[in-house]
Amino acid sequence: MKKKILVIGANGQLGNCFRKLSGDFENRFEFNFTDSETLDITDANNVSEFFSDFKPDFCINASAYTAVDLAETEPEKAFAVNADGVANLAEACAENKTVLLHISTDYVFDGETNISYSEDNFTSPQGVYGASKLKGEELALDLNPNTIVLRTSWLYSEFNKNFVRTMLHLFSVKDELGIVTDQFGQPTNATDLAEAVMKIIETEPKTFGIFHFSNYPETTWFNFAQKIAEYSGSEIKLKPITTADFPTPAKRPARSTMSLNKIESVYGIEPKYWEHSLEECIEILQKQ
Ligand SMILES: NC(=O)c1ccc[n+]([C@@H]2O[C@H](COP(=O)([O-])OP(=O)(O)OC[C@H]3O[C@@H](n4cnc5c(N)ncnc54)[C@H](OP(=O)(O)O)[C@@H]3O)[C@@H](O)[C@H]2O)c1
Repeated sequence: MKKKILVIGANGQLGNCFRKLSGDFENRFEFNFTDSETLDITDANNVSEFFSDFKPDFCINASAYTAVDLAETEPEKAFAVNADGVANLAEACAENKTVLLHISTDYVFDGETNISYSEDNFTSPQGVYGASKLKGEELALDLNPNTIVLRTSWLYSEFNKNFVRTMLHLFSVKDELGIVTDQFGQPTNATDLAEAVMKIIETEPKTFGIFHFSNYPETTWFNFAQKIAEYSGSEIKLKPITTADFPTPAKRPARSTMSLNKIESVYGIEPKYWEHSLEECIEILQKQ
């Protein structure tokens, strides 16, 4: 019998990557893709009934409240989805012996040090979004023993709104653009993250807890934008600016680079070079 995978938040950029990959796994897995209309994770009854009917072996939580700046003025909405909603999922997973693969973020770190954060390093979110995601991690791990939290960073894809698609749009309407050069992190192609999750599921995971996954090595938003311009053939003039030149409601970590050793040693998932993954995404976008 095929194992069942429930993908929550299937209309988001990561959710769409699971839809894209699912064809390659149809022989082994039955997928059920839900959006916030078919399954609202903040509604505990909705979640509990859905799980009782479908009885998933694996639940991938690709849903989240992701408006980092807006979260500063509507914390209750961010916590409702990113913490309470995750608790509902974790409880339903525990009841149905479902493995929960929950996606989290590098924004749980304050980014004030020069280390590459490992999974057990001290967390200290700078804003409401990061705090709500951290609470979600804690609840997911506390309420369901079979939980894998995957922290990722600087996620982009050919779907929905993200830095790569925003840059490509701005390159087409502007001659010059200032990009922040004093924030460091690791861009991640969401297809690579979806593939990593599927690889973990295929191993019938037995090791739970927190793992980091991103592309590597670290870079800055400015260098990232330069590569987007290069691979897309844009002649845009990019100007390095500082975080202070581009104030945002939510403070971002200055350097949120994560160590990727644990996921490689436990699940054999090797990180991919971010420039290669970016080139692949831009090729797809240019064919659209
Ligand atoms: N984007 C980044 O740069 C980044 C970086 C690090 C980590 N992450 C994490 O990566 C994961 C995926 O992010 P993403 O960029 O793919 O997000 P996204 O494109 O914003 O998609 C999030 C999805 O969550 C769904 N959702 C919101 N509230 C919901 C609810 N109450 N019940 C069910 N679904 C709900 C939305 O569904 P509807 O459209 O149906 O409303 C939306 O499609 C998230 O956990 C995020 O925190 C993202």
